[in-house]
Parts: sequence; structure tokens; C-alpha cells
Amino acid sequence: MPAHIAVIMDGNGRWAEARGLPRMMGHRAGVEALKTTLRFCSDLGIGALTVYAFSTENWSRPQDEVNFLMALFERVLQRELEALQQEKVRINFLGGLEVLPERLRELIKEATKLTAGNSGIHFNVCTNYGGRRELVLAAQKLAERSVKGELDPSVIDENIFAAELFTASEVDPDLLIRTSGERRISNFLLWQLAYAEIYVTDALWPDFDSSELLQALIDYQSRCRRFGGLEPITSDHLGS
Ligand code: IPE
Ligand code: IPE
Ligand code: MG
Repeated sequence: MPAHIAVIMDGNGRWAEARGLPRMMGHRAGVEALKTTLRFCSDLGIGALTVYAFSTENWSRPQDEVNFLMALFERVLQRELEALQQEKVRINFLGGLEVLPERLRELIKEATKLTAGNSGIHFNVCTNYGGRRELVLAAQKLAERSVKGELDPSVIDENIFAAELFTASEVDPDLLIRTSGERRISNFLLWQLAYAEIYVTDALWPDFDSSELLQALIDYQSRCRRFGGLEPITSDHLGS
């Protein structure tokens, strides 16, 4: 079983368009797919689920779609917080949160604080997230520490670098799932996906359900992960 699954939830717009509905309806339906996926991962004992909800590039969409998404995040978080807490989910939001609407930022703060001590699945929601921005921010933080004389640049290694990323306390994803058939990373977890197994399904995100997830897991279990060596290595053999 993967310890950490990352998901690029793509295809909401196409799902709606195929039904003659506005794109927004696709985003709304996508929330249901996310709830199903989170529950299923939690039931299977998967340690972490990291999903791509809004990229740094998604601001370039029409203003009404961006506004709808921000309002949707707020509504869903408000509505689901109690259930998340009951199910012992530990929720975190990764990305440039400071530019999100104020009410959403407050809710994020509340949800993060409330669930911080939970023992269940780590649920990471990447919001205003960009892999390149994350790497640049990490470089900036390390440079600041070096300039202050707190950090000798020559000691910076992969662990020190990774500790500056939004995912600092998380193991790297073992499995990346992308829906809607697109075969690209779209600026998601550029560092962390270095050795993830990639699974692409043609299913559009709102149609992604437990049977789709099961198919992804079965496919994952057939992979031979060598990490550059010659022998297959399972994730339990990896440090970190
Ligand atoms: C993914 O679905 C959700 C977000 C990026 C917020 P899309 O909105 O990208 O759906 P398509 O790709 O246009 O079908
Ligand atoms: C990636 O989907 C971002 C999210 C799922 C939030 P996009 O729809 O934005 O990606 P591209 O534009 O197809 O690469
Ligand atoms: Mg898309």
C-alpha cells in the first residue's frame, strides 16, 4: 500500500460541459469525489492524501470561476469540519495562503488548529500551490538563514532543503494519480514526486470513485520500484 497518495483532481469543467452544465457544477460534483476518496483512503489506513485544489496558475481563469472556487472551498470546509474532526482527519493547507480571501484564511486557521492533534489520515489540500514557487520560497528561507549567519551554505543537503517545503513533515508521495487523461504534472509537488509512481486515468474527477481508486492501487501494486538501483524496493525499506 502507498503510505502517501497525491492527486491532481482534473476534469471538473469537462465533466460539466459534457452534461451541458456550467463548469461550476463540475467543481461542486468534484467535492463529492474528494469526500469519497478521503474516506476510502482513511478506511484503507493510508497515511497521507495530498490533493491539488487550486494552482498558482489557476488565478488566470475567469474571475467568476475563481470567485466560485474560493466560495466553494469556504462553504465545504465550514460544512465538513465537524465530520473531519470526528473521523480524526488532520487537515493542512499547503500553498500561498496569505492571498486567499480573509474568511477562507480564518477557516483554514481554525480547521488546522482544531485537527492538529488528530491521529488519523493527513489530509493536505494544496491551495494557491505551485511547485516552483514552493522551491523558490525554500531557497529564500535558506538564503536568509545563511545571510544571518545561522546556516553554513555548505551543509545544505536534501534533508535541510526538504524541511523548508510545505510538506516538511510528510514522507514523499508513493503514488500520483491524475484524472481526465492529462499526462503532465502541472507544477504539482515538483520536488516530492521525484520517485512517485504515476497513474493516469481517463475518468474525469467527479466520476472518480472507490472502484477507480482501487484500480489505481492495484496498478500501483504491480509496479517495480527500483529507485535507480537494480532490485525492487518497497516503501517500507525507505528511510525518511
Ligand atoms: C480541476 O478541474 C479543478 C481545478 C483546476 C480547480 P478543471 O477545472 O481543470 O477541469 P477541466 O480540466 O477544465 O475539465
Ligand atoms: C491542475 O489542473 C491544477 C488542479 C487540479 C488544481 P489544471 O487544469 O489547472 O492543469 P492544466 O492547465 O491542464 O495543466
Ligand atoms: Mg483542468
